[in-house]
Amino acid sequence: MRQLGLYVHIPFCVKKCRYCDFLSFAGIDNSVYSTYVKALLRDISHRNGSGFSVDSIFFGGGTPSLLEPIDLEYILAKIYQQFSVTPGAEISLEANPKTLSKSKLIAYRNLGINRISIGAQSMDDKLLDYIGRVHNSADFLENYRDARACGFKNINVDLMFALPGQTKTQWLNTLKQVIDLEPEHISFYSLQLEKGTPFYQMFEAGTLKEMDDETDRQMYWEGVYLLEKCGYFHYEISNAAKFGYKCRHNLKYWSMEEYLGLGLGAHSYVDGKRFSNETDLDTYIQSGDGSFIVWKHTNTYQDEISEFIFTGLRKIEGISLKKFEQKFGISLIDIYKNEVNKHIQKGLLEIDPTDHQLRFTRKGIDLSNTVLIDFV
Ligand SMILES: C[S@@+](CC[C@H](N)C(=O)[O-])C[C@H]1O[C@@H](n2cnc3c(N)ncnc32)[C@H](O)[C@@H]1O
Ligand code: SF4
Repeated sequence: MRQLGLYVHIPFCVKKCRYCDFLSFAGIDNSVYSTYVKALLRDISHRNGSGFSVDSIFFGGGTPSLLEPIDLEYILAKIYQQFSVTPGAEISLEANPKTLSKSKLIAYRNLGINRISIGAQSMDDKLLDYIGRVHNSADFLENYRDARACGFKNINVDLMFALPGQTKTQWLNTLKQVIDLEPEHISFYSLQLEKGTPFYQMFEAGTLKEMDDETDRQMYWEGVYLLEKCGYFHYEISNAAKFGYKCRHNLKYWSMEEYLGLGLGAHSYVDGKRFSNETDLDTYIQSGDGSFIVWKHTNTYQDEISEFIFTGLRKIEGISLKKFEQKFGISLIDIYKNEVNKHIQKGLLEIDPTDHQLRFTRKGIDLSNTVLIDFV
C-alpha cells in the first residue's frame, strides 16, 4: 500500500485579513457551508482510494473551524468510506481564534482530530487589528487553553513577523509569550505582500512600507535562536517543532510524497501527476458528475528532479544525495555540478561530509531564491 496524505480545503472566513490571498470567502451566508460540504462529499466519492493507505488528513483554509462539527463528521465519514485510513493517522485542523469553543473542541477530539493549528499571528492587539484579524490576544489565549483542557496534545501556533510597523522587540515578545504556552509546533512566516490584497494596494499607493530585508532577517534569525534555545527543532524554513512533533502532512509537500487535494481549488500530487480542482465556488458547488478537476500536468523527469530539489531544500536537513540517486538513477552532483559548486563557493549551500546531505547554509536560507532559480 502506498501512503497518501489528504488535504481538505474549507474556503470560508469570518472576514478577509488584509494580507491574505488564500482561496477563501468572507461574509458568506452560513447556509452555503452545508451546500459546499455536499459538493465536497461528491468530490470525495469520485476519488479512488484503492492501493493507498491514508496517514495524514489536513483540514486547511480558509477557516475550517467555522464548520459545525457535524459537517466535519460527514466529511470524515465519507473519507473513511472511500479510503483506508491508517490507525494513528495525523488528523489536523486549522482553527482561527474566536471561532472555537469548548464544545467544538470536544467534538473535534471525538471525531479523531488529533492536531490543531491555531492562527495567533501576533500577541499584539494593535497589530492584530491593523492586519485585519477578528481576534485579539485574549481570544487566542482562551482558545489555546481550552484546546489543551479538551485533550489536544499536539498544537501548532501560526505566527507572522515583519508586519507593518512591527519592531523586533514586539516580534520577540510575541514569540516568547507563545513559547511559554509550550505548543508542540510553531510556524513563523515573514509577511509576504501578495498581489490583489489590501496590503498590496496600500504598498503601491505608498501608504504601507515593506519591512527592510535586514530587519526581516534579524527578526527571523533571532526568532530561530530563541526557538532553538527553548527546545524547538528548526526543521523547515518557517517551522519548528518539539522532538517527535514535525507535521507529518506538511513534510509530504517538502519530500515529494503523494497527497490528494479535496475541495475548492485544492492541489494534488499523485503518481507523478500534479492536478488541481475548480476554483470558482459556484461552479464547484454545482459540479455533480465528478468534473471537479480542471487542471492536470504529468511531470516530466526534469520536472520531478527540479521539484524534488526545490521542495527538499526547504527542509533544514536538506536533501539526501544518496536518496536522490536511488530515486532518479543519477547523481545530483553529476547533473548540477556547476550550480552546486557555485553556491558552495558563495557560502549558500553545503554538503555534510558525514551524512551527504545537500542543504542551505544559514546565509543560503536568506538568499534561497537566488539559489533555487538555478535548479529550475
Ligand atoms: C492557510 S493560512 C490560514 C489559517 C487560518 N485561517 C488563520 O488565518 O489563522 C495559514 C497561515 O499562513 C500565514 N499567512 C497567510 N497569508 C500570509 C502572507 N501573506 N504572508 C505570510 N504568511 C501568511 C498565516 O500565518 C496563516 O495562519
Ligand atoms: S489569514 Fe486565515 S482567516 Fe485571514 S483571510 Fe486568510 S485564511 Fe482567512
